[in-house]
Amino acid sequence: MIRLCLLMLIIILWFTPVFSQGPGNLTAPNRHNLSATSGNPVRAVSETQICVFCHTPHRALTQTPLWNKSLSTAQYTVSVKPGSTGTQLSSPLNPPDGDSKLCLSCHDGTIPLGSVLNLGGQPTTISMTQQNLPLWTDLSGHHLVSIEYNSALATDKANQCGTVQYKLVDPPPPTPYLQRTRNIYDPNCTDPAGCSDPDNWHMGVQCTSCHDAHYDPDPVNRTTAFLRQGVRGSWTSRTYTDPLCLTCHIQCP
Ligand code: HEC
Ligand code: HEC
Ligand code: HEC
Ligand code: HEC
Repeated sequence: MIRLCLLMLIIILWFTPVFSQGPGNLTAPNRHNLSATSGNPVRAVSETQICVFCHTPHRALTQTPLWNKSLSTAQYTVSVKPGSTGTQLSSPLNPPDGDSKLCLSCHDGTIPLGSVLNLGGQPTTISMTQQNLPLWTDLSGHHLVSIEYNSALATDKANQCGTVQYKLVDPPPPTPYLQRTRNIYDPNCTDPAGCSDPDNWHMGVQCTSCHDAHYDPDPVNRTTAFLRQGVRGSWTSRTYTDPLCLTCHIQCP
C-alpha cells in the first residue's frame, strides 16, 4: 500500500510543472530549440541536436555550466546610477557577469548563433537560417542585471519610501530568482580568493532571475517568453502587479 502511494505520488509530481521542469521543455517547439526539426524560424539548417547550441560535454569554456560558446567581448551601455528615475541605487557591472553573460553570448547579436566551441571534436559554425540575433549592446532602458541584491540594499531602498512607491523584499528571495553568479568574468576582480571561491560569489539579479532558458510555459502562443512567472504585457503597462516583479519588489507602506 505504501509503495503504491509512493508510486502515485511520484507520478503526480512528475506531471506537476516544478518536477517536470528538470531539463526543461526544450524538446517542445520553443524558441531555444534551435534544432533543424524544431519548426522555428530561427533554427539550424541540418543539425538536429538541441543542447549543443549552448552546452558541450567536452572542451567547454571553464567556470561555466559546460558552455559551448565563446563569450562576447562587446562594449555595452548600461544604466549607471542614478537611473532615469534618479532613485536607482545599484551600479550594474559592465560588462555583465555570471549567467547574463551566457545569454549575451547569443543575445547581444555579436556572436553567430551557430558558432560553437565543440561539435565533433572541434570548433565550428553550424549553418543556421539566421546568422545572428539583432544587435543588443545597449542594455540601458532594460531591467538592471549583474547587480548584487542583499539586505543592505533592501534597507537603503526602504529608506527611499516616500520618493519611491516600491521597495525591495527583505530578506531577498531565494534562488532561482537570485543567482549566485556561477562564473566570474569580472575583469575588475582583483581578489583571487574572491574570484575563485564560490562562497564569495555575489547573489544578484541576472537575466536568469526572470527567465529560465530551459523552460517556456507557453511556447506555442509565446505569451511567456521563458519567464519564471507571469506573462508578457503586464510589464509594459508598468503597473508592477506582475507576480514576477513582486517576487522582489514590494509596495512601500
Ligand atoms: C539556449 C541555450 C541553452 C540550451 C539550448 C540549453 N541550455 Fe542548459 N543552460 C543554459 C543556461 C543559460 C544555463 C545556466 C543558467 C541555468 O542554470 O538556468 C544552463 C545550465 C544547464 C545545466 C546546469 C544547471 C542546471 O540548471 O541544472 C544543465 C544540467 C543544463 N543546462 C542542461 C541542458 C540540457 C540537457 C539541454 C538540452 C536538452 C540544455 N541544457 C540546453 C542554456 C541552455
Ligand atoms: C544559442 C543562442 C542563445 C542563447 C545562449 C540564449 N538564447 Fe534566447 N533566443 C535565442 C534565439 C535564436 C531565439 C529566437 C529568436 C527569434 O525567434 O527571433 C531566442 C529567444 C529568446 C526569448 C524570446 C522567446 C519568445 O517566445 O519570444 C527570450 C526571452 C530569450 N531568448 C531569453 C534568453 C535568456 C534569458 C538567455 C540566457 C539565460 C538566452 N535567451 C540564451 C538564442 C539564444
Ligand atoms: C526583471 C526581469 C527581467 C530581467 C532581469 C530580464 N528580462 Fe528579459 N524579459 C522580461 C519580461 C517581463 C519580458 C516580457 C515582456 C517583453 O517582451 O518585453 C522579457 C522579454 C525578453 C525577450 C523577448 C523580447 C521580445 O521583444 O520578444 C528577450 C529576448 C529577453 N527578455 C532577454 C533577456 C536577456 C538577454 C536578459 C539579460 C540581459 C533579460 N532578458 C533580463 C523580464 C526580464
Ligand atoms: C530578482 C529580483 C527582481 C525582480 C524579479 C525584479 N526586480 Fe526590479 N529591481 C531589483 C533590484 C535589486 C533593483 C535595484 C534597485 C536599486 O538599485 O535601486 C531593481 C530595480 C528596478 C527598478 C529601478 C528602481 C529605481 O529606483 O530606479 C525598476 C523600475 C524595476 N526594478 C522594475 C521591475 C519590474 C517592472 C519587474 C518585473 C518585470 C522587476 N523589477 C523585477 C530586483 C528585481
